[in-house]
Amino acid sequence: MNVPELDLLRQTDIYLIDQILKGRLDGVRRVVDVGAGSGRNLPWFVERGARVTALDPRPEAFEAMDEYLQALDLGPSATAGLERVLGRIEDAPLERGSADLVICNAVLHFAAGASGFEAMLRGAWGLVAPGGMFFARLASSVGVEGGPVPLGDGRFLLPDESERYLVDARGLEEWPDRLGAERLEPVKTTVVSGLRAMSTWVLRAPGDGETIRR
Ligand SMILES: C[S@@+](CC[C@H](N)C(=O)[O-])C[C@H]1O[C@@H](n2cnc3c(N)ncnc32)[C@H](O)[C@@H]1O
Repeated sequence: MNVPELDLLRQTDIYLIDQILKGRLDGVRRVVDVGAGSGRNLPWFVERGARVTALDPRPEAFEAMDEYLQALDLGPSATAGLERVLGRIEDAPLERGSADLVICNAVLHFAAGASGFEAMLRGAWGLVAPGGMFFARLASSVGVEGGPVPLGDGRFLLPDESERYLVDARGLEEWPDRLGAERLEPVKTTVVSGLRAMSTWVLRAPGDGETIRR
């Protein structure tokens, strides 16, 4: 990997970099980043000429994204394929089944409760095209049991005083089956000692006419 390519990845989530280095994302042409924030996970895709849709309910996120991408000096032809959509994933703002890759990084813990989580997750998963990949990192209770204070309906008060929706170990295993997803990786969890845990789903949607074997 040369230095300019490394520059595209400096802010990218390390587990997404893992998928890039494994070569799983080489052929991706259509990406949706759900809750894209400052767009830190987008430069590698944008520079390769992928059609990228960044979804976020906060206009400030797009201002930060413009600033970040301009600083990388990607050029107008690279960013021409970037579409910004203001909205919430649970409101179905995008065409279903249209993306080779859906990224949902550090977003699902904003759910207001269990039904909100399901609406967000199903909204994001529904965007994946047949045979496409779903990459999500989400706050979980794995390895931090007893730390976060339960507030009810899956919400917790974390030691940093933030309130988050946390998925437990069972939910992390059961949701891919409920969605009908193939697991490309086992669930992996990073525990930030005494603070929080982030788990990673790397899932694949069945191709047309394909049945997922478990
Ligand atoms: C912690 S930031 C993560 C940003 C980016 N994905 C990253 O990895 O750096 C969470 C983002 O999710 C967005 N978000 C929150 N609720 C959302 C929803 N219901 N639908 C889509 N995006 C949402 C927030 O506005 C924020 O930009």
